[in-house]
Amino acid sequence: MTDQSSNQMWGGRFAAGPDAIMEAINASIGFDQRMAAQDIAGSRAHAAMLAATGVITDNDAQAIREGLLTVLSEIERGEFQFSTALEDIHMNVEARLKEIIGEPAGRLHTGRSRNDQVATDFRLWVRDQLDAAETGLLALIRALLAQAEAGADWVMPGFTHMQTAQPVTWGHHMLAYVEMFGRDLSRVRDARARMNESPLGAAALAGTSFPIDRHMTAEALGFDRPAANSLDAVSDRDFALEFLSTASISAMHLSRFAEELVIWSSAQFRFVALSDRFSTGSSIMPQKKNPDAAELIRAKVGRIYGANTGLMMVMKGLPLTYSKDMQEDKEQVFDAADSWMLALAAMEGMVGDMTANRESLAAAAGSGFSTATDLADWLVRVLGLPFRDAHHITGSLVAMAEGKGCDLPDLSLDEMQSVHADIANDVYSVLGVDNSVHSRQSYGGTAPDQVRAQVKRWKALV
Ligand code: ARG
Repeated sequence: MTDQSSNQMWGGRFAAGPDAIMEAINASIGFDQRMAAQDIAGSRAHAAMLAATGVITDNDAQAIREGLLTVLSEIERGEFQFSTALEDIHMNVEARLKEIIGEPAGRLHTGRSRNDQVATDFRLWVRDQLDAAETGLLALIRALLAQAEAGADWVMPGFTHMQTAQPVTWGHHMLAYVEMFGRDLSRVRDARARMNESPLGAAALAGTSFPIDRHMTAEALGFDRPAANSLDAVSDRDFALEFLSTASISAMHLSRFAEELVIWSSAQFRFVALSDRFSTGSSIMPQKKNPDAAELIRAKVGRIYGANTGLMMVMKGLPLTYSKDMQEDKEQVFDAADSWMLALAAMEGMVGDMTANRESLAAAAGSGFSTATDLADWLVRVLGLPFRDAHHITGSLVAMAEGKGCDLPDLSLDEMQSVHADIANDVYSVLGVDNSVHSRQSYGGTAPDQVRAQVKRWKALV
């Protein structure tokens, strides 16, 4: 008989229990208890299938399935005693099931292994997170669309190199982020479709001699199909890596926007006012209203990239099939998922609440010679000059205005004509920022009509 101190799940060949340090490095229960609901769902599906295929009796399956619900409610109520000696969530649940229902609990693990079990649980967990990310992204996109619609014709400076480039519209800028988060959404959906295969029944690595029905468990757990190769099924963590890389790209988008909000909410820019709900004060400087949520979103990205790189490193040298290294997949994914969901929610809240400062945006839009390109285009269109010449003439006019400390529309017609004699009075019409943005009617351009058309297109999609 097994020595009492050896492991009750796998201790048959062991005379003694593990060293305390061995137990500490080996146990995953401290974190994988987050997959309890998925573990129990997988086991309930497995038990039903074992009965349907005649591997265990209906009575045993029923006892197992009901007992598992009792275990789940104990866990949900916080009454469950997790044991490090029982290593992980899989063995903790099974051991408790045995206490509750007795002998039939020992039949649950027929035709499966912890290798396919953990792969199944983790897939289910990641799939839930992809669904949560989809919800979060949709909410954020809708908040951005509301901003875009309200400010479809509000002018602001567009930047390249962080230097004033050309006037754009607020709505257009918001829609740029809609495109980014829209791509994130499509990556989430792609990843979900690709990962939705069931590893359950791959058993330890080779499949099983029991007449199991993997299609049945796959269907019960909402998978599209069983994974087609048992070796791959237990050793694949692509689904977690795709989750992390999708999260990384999305977090990069969140961070770029967060950076803009930090800049825009500063006293030097005053492009936006963030709401009190998404700002904090300083304990020493009474005037301060800090964009902490934006800063933290910017910083959370580091953890998400770290998780992505970390799991890539864990996986890169592993021979087929399962190795214990793979237990290190979870904490990073848990942390990245928490960070991503929180960042999405915080960004949605900030965007929903923030107020664009129309006057500051317009004032900034008109400064910095932002309509110089419009002037050059006018010289091409009206005077028929080659663009290169028009560019040069405009450059001279910008230098003149800069020397006088004024903007382009402030130059007199005489001053303009001193650079090119044919410049006429109607040039002033293109130097205004409103005319500038209204003229950019090319598909996907910044003109208010284009912005409204894109808002409409997106609203039909989300
Ligand atoms: N706790 C383990 C993990 O997270 C479960 C699988 C253990 N499998 C094994 N053959 N020891 O990966």
